[in-house]
Amino acid sequence: MNKIIIAIDGFSSTGKSTVARQLAKELNYIYVDTGAMYRAVTYFALKNDLIGEGFFHSEKLIERLDDINITFKFNEDLGFAEVYLNGENIEKDIRTLEVSQYVSPVSTISEVRQKLVEQQQLMGKGKGIVMDGRDIGTVVFPDAELKIFMTASAETRAKRRYKELLERGHNLSYDEVLENVTTRDYIDSTREDSPLMKAEDAIEIDNSDLTIEAQLDSLIKLAKAIA
Ligand code: C5P
Repeated sequence: MNKIIIAIDGFSSTGKSTVARQLAKELNYIYVDTGAMYRAVTYFALKNDLIGEGFFHSEKLIERLDDINITFKFNEDLGFAEVYLNGENIEKDIRTLEVSQYVSPVSTISEVRQKLVEQQQLMGKGKGIVMDGRDIGTVVFPDAELKIFMTASAETRAKRRYKELLERGHNLSYDEVLENVTTRDYIDSTREDSPLMKAEDAIEIDNSDLTIEAQLDSLIKLAKAIA
């Protein structure tokens, strides 16, 4: 079978990462969660007081981009690659509501996107990759052999995210999560550089009422039909 590039884009908390990760495992492909990379830059900005309540020193963040080195390292026990910032494992730190609240403004910065897109394109050079995000089928790999656009209602997505965050021990309300999901979607879809949108040749899947198994099943079939 030929190795292909599979681009999975969609709104926040559509369960893209869960399905993408399992799909990569099934196909013996590399999986890359590009949201984790934007979250890593946001974590750096927060740690260095470049963004916070009521301020965003975007020019200073741009100046510091060379100080940001993002890598992934596979964790055998967890069965997926964790994200590292300058050698430090930040997998848990980037999943907080605080990072979620600042990640979309950080992701509007073209210099940030340029740096991360370059790294993502290098990772996909050998194909055999499943990458998920917002601009994978439109900007990172416009020639990807298989493009998926995941959707689900905002409430379904907020419920999923809320459950996930509670399970991880975060203390927050459903309304806070819903507000974050809808705000992020708005900023992500309306930004000037690489807005979230369905690529013309992407296959749209509304997974509001689909189990992970059903989604995985159809994605494997689609991938095998092409590869
Ligand atoms: O996928 P996840 O929800 O973790 O992504 C976090 C944020 O990172 C998104 O809301 C979006 O602002 C940004 N992002 C992006 N482009 C990508 C992946 C994520 O702008 N390819």
